[in-house]
Amino acid sequence: LDNGVARTPPMGWNSWNTFGCNINESLIRQHADAIVSSGMRDLGYQYVVVDDCWFNPNRDSSGNLQGDPTRFPSGMKALGDYLHARGLKFGLYQVPVDKTCAQYFGAYPGATGSQGHEAQDARQFAAWGVDFLKYDWCSPNGTIDQQVTTFAKMRDALAAAGRPIVYSINPNSIHAKTGPLRNWGDVANMWRTTEDITNTWDSGQTNGYPMGIQNIVNVTVPLASYARPGQFNDPDMMEVGRGGMTDTEMRSHFALWAIMASPLIAGNDLRSMSTATQAILKNANLIAVNQDSLGQQATQVSHDGTRRVLAKRLANGDVAVALFNQGSSTTTVSTTAAAVGKSGTSFTLLDAWTNATSSTSGTISASVPAHGTVVYRVSGGGTTPPPTTTTFVSASSGR
Ligand code: DGJ
Repeated sequence: LDNGVARTPPMGWNSWNTFGCNINESLIRQHADAIVSSGMRDLGYQYVVVDDCWFNPNRDSSGNLQGDPTRFPSGMKALGDYLHARGLKFGLYQVPVDKTCAQYFGAYPGATGSQGHEAQDARQFAAWGVDFLKYDWCSPNGTIDQQVTTFAKMRDALAAAGRPIVYSINPNSIHAKTGPLRNWGDVANMWRTTEDITNTWDSGQTNGYPMGIQNIVNVTVPLASYARPGQFNDPDMMEVGRGGMTDTEMRSHFALWAIMASPLIAGNDLRSMSTATQAILKNANLIAVNQDSLGQQATQVSHDGTRRVLAKRLANGDVAVALFNQGSSTTTVSTTAAAVGKSGTSFTLLDAWTNATSSTSGTISASVPAHGTVVYRVSGGGTTPPPTTTTFVSASSGR
């Protein structure tokens, strides 16, 4: 979506994965403070997104949304001001239907969705200083055509409200049942590629609810051609630092999100991060790969079912290469400079995790532990034109 924002994948934190409905303004402020004190803000984590359950169950007498008076007693504008004063950006959750997910499932009172209130709510968000809207199709009902019309209605309402707002949608309750994901780049800045992520490596299913890390990767890799500045596939908020995986698996999770040009939205408790978690979320090499101005998502170079190689073109001619081992024992994963689009005979490899550099005349290879991912930034030589698979796929052909 060409609305001036999300020229690179949005980075930040979202309340849902760890806190679900148990949110309030002091929790959000503590997380804002932690983003700053941990150094994450200065590495690019900007958007603090308040997910479901922030609502007053009743709109005011003019039909305006309000924050829950007990959870957000200072009001939503004051929360936005708090974030902006710290150099952060304000994200909020809403739905295009009548009820939010928590309301639909009876976990929260009210029916405060934007259906029929789109223009009014967009103006309200702008007035509160909202910079990011997560708009979640929380209904089992509807067709993709209805989703297109409905999501476009809020896209246009946000544009009319006049404030640059990242538009993040979740169409997945419908499209996961109907086949490959549509390219939503005409409608939104980012769109979920699967049902909800869960804090585990493998949920044992191709697509459905919920999704493990490698299951999401399997669904999202083939959608690479949809990504470009202003529009990115969204494989969901991260589970790094939530305890359900080994450190190797968490490093893979982060490395793969980074190279897939995915939004890097942390979902852990930022007030109590281990050293290992911080080292993952704050890996500057991988953040640079993710935030590269070309905005390309890595395309698949090879996959034998176990050993998977992905490559992402970078603006300065370098190529980031992920050597991913989806198997259950250590193995060597290999490719070549030519296969990832580099020409020449002399290259430097920067290991994104260790910072070690090495030279190669063409072989790119590493011993990779089970579920691990080694990422090299390949520099030197020339860069051949991007593979045709990165051509933009028009909106209507992705259904
Ligand atoms: C479903 C979404 O996929 C989640 O990320 C979260 O926003 C919940 N809804 C909130 O109810």
